Amino acid sequence: MLNEFVRTSKFLFDTIFRIGSGVSNAFGYDADEDTDINENINIKTCDCDCGFSNEEIRIVGGKPTGVNQYPWMARIVYDGKFHCGGSLLTKDYVITAAHCVKKLRRSKIRIIFGDHDQQITSESQAIQRAVTSITKHKSFDPDTYNNDIALLRLRKPIVFSKIIKPVCLPRYNYDPAGRIGTVVGWGRTSEGGELPSIVNQVKVPIMSITECRNQKYKSTRITSTMLCAGKPSMDSCQGDSGGPLLLSNGVKFFIVGIVSWGVGCGREGYPGVYTRVSKFVPWIQSNLENSCLCT
Ligand code: ARG
Repeated sequence: MLNEFVRTSKFLFDTIFRIGSGVSNAFGYDADEDTDINENINIKTCDCDCGFSNEEIRIVGGKPTGVNQYPWMARIVYDGKFHCGGSLLTKDYVITAAHCVKKLRRSKIRIIFGDHDQQITSESQAIQRAVTSITKHKSFDPDTYNNDIALLRLRKPIVFSKIIKPVCLPRYNYDPAGRIGTVVGWGRTSEGGELPSIVNQVKVPIMSITECRNQKYKSTRITSTMLCAGKPSMDSCQGDSGGPLLLSNGVKFFIVGIVSWGVGCGREGYPGVYTRVSKFVPWIQSNLENSCLCT
């Protein structure tokens, strides 16, 4: 996670006080032109809340830092080492990037929830889960990173708590272009730099597909199921993969992107590229086995 503003101490959470404006009614399922598409799908919903962050903040060194601020944040650990980010979607499933789980031995994966600083255990009660199945998108292309999405089923369901809660899915086909999103992760804080022990966040402007194709990437590399976000020195980076690009409607947070790829980090003309989650809502719904989404 890069951020041009502060990086004075690893204990400082990067928060920028620019609040996205007027995003109310942008997401929910109660909307309009796409309902016909959802009608064909057996939407499994249950009586629980998604997308509520923990707002109360702790002040360290004059900057706000949120312990468990984004309670769906999951840390994917492979063979005892930090591997990727992920987000809790239901009590049984974590959503992440397909490239994060390709060629992994399922038995060596552990997912940690409720964590904040990887090196301090006193500040929050983290819990760990093993994985019983990995559902990678069948059309994931490891060369182009097209369809970079996967679901991991947890061996034991999560009991939601103040510090562990699921994120909301956007409405099918919802286009967040022009909004300011927030990427959250334990990724490097500079290109080629170190992995922080604390989870970081950075605000990133979300581009339209056209805008993204006009950047320095070969335009055909950017497919309609990808999304670009970021500006120079405000980007995700290695280690953030699989983690969420979030958008708030003022009440709840929705996962509109999954950190997927980019050339370097924070480079001019090379924004971060994310899986466009709204395109995969039907895929997600049909792959959540016996697990309902909170609304
Ligand atoms: N593929 C990287 C990972 O595995 C994520 C890179 C994101 N890059 C970027 N410039 N936004 O962690």
